[in-house]
Amino acid sequence: MLVHYFEELEQEQIKEFIEEINLASRQAFNLLGNLLEWARSQTGRILYSPEKISMDEIVQKNKDLLEQNAKEKNIHLANDVEPDTFVYADKDMIATVIRNLMTNALKYTPYGGKVTITSKNAGDFTETWISDTGIGIGEEDMDKLFRIDTKYSTLGTANERGTGLGLILCKEFIKGNHGKIWVKSEVGKGSDFKFTLPKQIQE
Ligand SMILES: Nc1ncnc2c1ncn2[C@@H]1O[C@H](COP(=O)(O)OP(=O)(O)O)[C@@H](O)[C@H]1O
Ligand SMILES: [Mg+2]
Repeated sequence: MLVHYFEELEQEQIKEFIEEINLASRQAFNLLGNLLEWARSQTGRILYSPEKISMDEIVQKNKDLLEQNAKEKNIHLANDVEPDTFVYADKDMIATVIRNLMTNALKYTPYGGKVTITSKNAGDFTETWISDTGIGIGEEDMDKLFRIDTKYSTLGTANERGTGLGLILCKEFIKGNHGKIWVKSEVGKGSDFKFTLPKQIQE
């Protein structure tokens, strides 16, 4: 359609089309990344290779990657990771978890909101949470999250689409790295996705 009528389109329409294509391709790219990583984890092709990771570094890297998404919805994205917060985990897996949780937070937060990522030491573990000022999740839908049999997915505040695979992957990867993941949320106020990871090698 765009190809056929290109010459007759107004500048403004062309801009709209480009924005749509841009969004769709980024969503497809994210989905493909998730699927590839999941497939790799299932076939054992990529070994679980834990190492000491700086939470600040890995959060900052993913924040930079998603800054454009945040800008489009005028959402303030903050890195509140305490210095000297380290985990012993697989870097690729943890980056995927952080990217998915941040993407969700941005997706379910309306224009002008705030998304914050915090990490702190808590005994032998670290705690990390992604908080948003978004639409929240109803009590009746909480049980549907993190589960492959329900594949629960709803549209974002800018009608962003999804597959319901992101949180399942997060749970698999956090479990595989000896941590726990859970969520607290209030409709109309926002959500807090929280996970723990060990600081030392686990036997
Ligand atoms: N931060 C959030 N705020 C509100 N709802 C959320 C949030 N994160 C996840 N959800 C809900 O959980 C569902 C599943 O999330 P996910 O597994 O990442 O799938 P997807 O993003 O592809 O829909 C979402 O569709 C949405 O309904
Ligand atoms: Mg998602």
